[in-house]
Amino acid sequence: MIEKGQEIVLTGRTTDTAGNRTAYVSKYFSCTSCHNISKEDPDLRYSDPEARLAYVKEKGLPFLQGTTFRGIVNRETWYNDDYVKKYGDEKIKRAHGDLREAIQLCAVECSQGRAMEDWEIEAVLSYFWTLEFTLGDLAFSAADLKRLNADTAQINPALTAAWIKSFYLQKSPAHFYDAPPDKAIGYAGLVGNPERGKDLYALSCLHCHREGGVSHYPLDEGRLSFQHLKKMIPKDSHFSLYQIVAYGTYAIPGHRPYMPHYPAERMSKQQVEDLRAYVEMMAAKK
Ligand code: HEC
Ligand code: HEC
Repeated sequence: MIEKGQEIVLTGRTTDTAGNRTAYVSKYFSCTSCHNISKEDPDLRYSDPEARLAYVKEKGLPFLQGTTFRGIVNRETWYNDDYVKKYGDEKIKRAHGDLREAIQLCAVECSQGRAMEDWEIEAVLSYFWTLEFTLGDLAFSAADLKRLNADTAQINPALTAAWIKSFYLQKSPAHFYDAPPDKAIGYAGLVGNPERGKDLYALSCLHCHREGGVSHYPLDEGRLSFQHLKKMIPKDSHFSLYQIVAYGTYAIPGHRPYMPHYPAERMSKQQVEDLRAYVEMMAAKK
């Protein structure tokens, strides 16, 4: 079951008990188009996109809209905060409290795919259990480790468990934000850093928009890509960085793959300015 679940997550399909290839869950995406399977936050107590960018860069991972599956079984709710508040239909509410429902919701809605069968969901869940946090993932100091050993040797397991839980978030927080009122000005008061913008472009945008990626809108490190992106920044269009990051695109009939937006915990306003600074710098280069 673990192997079958892993195949579904990494390649989109597996084999059933009779040995036949199953249909793809999604024709457009695999789960890892939008989710990592490794740890992506240096300190699991915080969901901080700026700390995450430096960390994933060092580990050679992409920087994505969906939260990593590492530790997904250690969370207690899914599709949190604004996903519930702003899209609060029954399906999201069920997914909020039930990981099986969250997997199914994402197969159908995020991946624009088919409903998964019960055994496939169990397989994915079995695989997810292999990705649970270990003590090594947590930011324990030497003193904390000493305390842990002392605690487990004696006293109250419930207290020790609660204390261990204070080292990681039990949910992936998600707060949405709007494009700035004046896109030419951008997010007032923030100054973009093109070095960090370069990392965002390579580790996030190009993950899907490079040649052969899941998007039909190819981007690269050439001047034409940057000039087009730059020209569109102030416009009221989903080609504007501000609009695409804050709102994504919707699946339209006849063209099902769409781009999920980034909540503030997945790309900050500062990072949008960093990306803009990089795009503008590259567009101006001879
Ligand atoms: C097109 C992008 C995309 C694809 C493909 C995708 N997801 Fe997601 N998924 C998201 C986004 C965006 C969220 C929003 C919540 C989050 O992860 O922060 C999400 C959320 C989830 C969650 C809840 C996470 C949480 O902690 O809130 C689960 C579980 C999940 N996806 C499973 C899957 C599985 C299994 C697949 C493959 C069958 C899949 N996803 C494919 C984008 C995607
Ligand atoms: C998880 C994959 C993914 C990531 C990451 C991603 N995109 Fe997209 N993007 C898509 C898909 C799919 C579409 C839908 C249109 C298509 O298929 O070309 C899209 C659409 C767009 C569009 C509108 C183009 C159109 O044809 O409607 C722009 C502009 C864009 N993305 C820019 C970006 C930028 C800038 C980043 C980085 C901040 C980024 N994207 C990150 C997948 C992604």
